[in-house]
Amino acid sequence: DWSMAEFREQKIAEIREQVGDGKVICGLSGGVDSAVAAVLIHEAIGDQLTCVFVDHGLLRAEEASQVVGLFRGHYNIPLVHVDAEDMFLAGLAGVTDPEAKRKFIGKTFIDVFEAEAKTIGGADFLAQGTLYPDVIESVSFTGGPSVTIKSHHNVGGLPERMNMKLVEPLRELFKDEVRELGRELGLPDAFVGRHPFPGPGLAIRIPGEVTKEACDILRKADRIYLEEIRKAGLYDAIWQAFAVLLPVRTVGVMGDYRTYDRVCGLRAVTSTDGMTADVYPFDGSFLSSVATRIVNEVKGINRVVYDYTSKPPGTIEWE
Ligand code: XMP
Repeated sequence: DWSMAEFREQKIAEIREQVGDGKVICGLSGGVDSAVAAVLIHEAIGDQLTCVFVDHGLLRAEEASQVVGLFRGHYNIPLVHVDAEDMFLAGLAGVTDPEAKRKFIGKTFIDVFEAEAKTIGGADFLAQGTLYPDVIESVSFTGGPSVTIKSHHNVGGLPERMNMKLVEPLRELFKDEVRELGRELGLPDAFVGRHPFPGPGLAIRIPGEVTKEACDILRKADRIYLEEIRKAGLYDAIWQAFAVLLPVRTVGVMGDYRTYDRVCGLRAVTSTDGMTADVYPFDGSFLSSVATRIVNEVKGINRVVYDYTSKPPGTIEWE
């Protein structure tokens, strides 16, 4: 695409101009935005960039290995992979308030990242994959008073604390433009087309307490749901689809036995920027086959419900 090719060249020039011969550190989240930002910056300044992937253990099945494989294997971009699952889960024990979860994860993410940055000798700049909607949503909520709906953990106080300047080459872009830029940069289609995933990860898709067991149950249900969506050819028509694991147990029956297990919620929405969203209208038969698979294959879940709430009044994530 002509305009994206031009945007790419313009940003590369801007990044070189801003960074000079300074060092840049980029936090990868596992998602598309930070990956596109990192690849673009690497193209501009090469090995002046180091990427750090703080893996909080709250990712979907296989997401961590995909990112690591892409950076180390495909692009040969230096990447530090920090496995911090134990630390995050230990800190989340007993935490049920959504904002408390978000704040803990955001703060811990920054602590781990900062320690890692020191280990590699520090940097002058911090690169982030902040998009235009992140910039606005963090300040206020469209159509309402200026209140914080959710604390987004990717726009934090890290740069001031570490005395680094920000490099945010995607700040003017919407999600579809970031994808276009990603394709322009040669990122694989399957990666670029990936649904957005929130910084706090599965923690905000598990209302109530987040445990390793709950994360594992949710990962299994979520994987089945997405597998079926892909098989039906619906993945690209949906902005975001994911499972949530509710802290509610209900009674069911499996063969000759009574079960008393958790409820899984399924969500799928269409959207252009995440600021408003409509429910994706699956066929009833699609949803019932997903529900059947989840209940049969995932131990710990015996009931599945579909979320019919648009945004507003709901938000896309449950917390
Ligand atoms: P909500 O749930 O507020 O989400 O309707 C709007 C979009 O933002 C994503 N989201 C986040 N992204 N850090 C992120 O990078 C966060 O803390 C965060 N919280 C929500 C959400 O998945 C949706 O695409």
